[in-house]
Amino acid sequence: AGGGEQHIEDFDFSFEGPFGTWDQNQLQRGLQIYTEVCAACHGLRYIPLRTLEDLGYSEEQVITYAADNFEVFDPELDDFRPAIPTDHFPANNGVGAPDLSLMAKARAGFHGPYGLGINQLVKGMGGAEYIASLLDGYTGHEKEEAGTILYENTAFPGGWISMAPPLSDEQVDFADGHSNSVEHMSEDVAAFLMWTAEPKMMDRKNAGFVGVLFLTVLSVLLYLVNKRLWAPHK
Ligand code: HEM
Repeated sequence: AGGGEQHIEDFDFSFEGPFGTWDQNQLQRGLQIYTEVCAACHGLRYIPLRTLEDLGYSEEQVITYAADNFEVFDPELDDFRPAIPTDHFPANNGVGAPDLSLMAKARAGFHGPYGLGINQLVKGMGGAEYIASLLDGYTGHEKEEAGTILYENTAFPGGWISMAPPLSDEQVDFADGHSNSVEHMSEDVAAFLMWTAEPKMMDRKNAGFVGVLFLTVLSVLLYLVNKRLWAPHK
């Protein structure tokens, strides 16, 4: 096997569609999964810790979270110190894992057909779908190539990835008792990474909606003005 058909599942994320919004509880679970699992290898170096207040945490909670989980190098102290909200999540270059800040925008889940990209018009770009499918896409087969162990994965292009399956059932315990199957955790952390890659998605959608509304009203007014102006000449 391997190199077979790439399979990306079309998950139903809450933030999809023109009126979709973040599911804050899901983003919080995603942050917890990132912190407890992914942060061991992957950084989030473009994301300021203070922006976690957008996930519904208080200022105090963010201060505690930053100090408890991360150390950053401070050039003024010439030493490491506990992170504070104005710091970014640290980078992590330990095992050569790519930074995840923008991963949900860097990958597409849907392509084609025939390079036309029409699937993306219908289903969306699918960055979060790709990540969720990747985490949930291990077949359990592995092989060694030039000293590296590769794991078969149905979502990874080429079919073999060097990241060992990071998630296993019941690995993370959620305070709200939410399901912690691999499939659900994959969705949650993918949603969180969509937020890191596009934290202002809801603002963008709102601005778009107001723009369309405004243009609709303007069109009606222009139509009526046109009618009135030409009325005497018809
Ligand atoms: C690659 C996500 C945990 C090591 C990746 C990629 C993603 C990802 C999206 C990019 C795949 C691509 O290039 O298309 C995650 C998430 C994790 C996680 C969400 C937590 C749930 C880990 C852990 C390790 C790790 C714990 C180390 C033990 C790697 C490596 C790569 C990688 C080495 C490069 C793989 C390759 O290009 O063959 N990861 N990862 N990851 N990850 Fe992770």
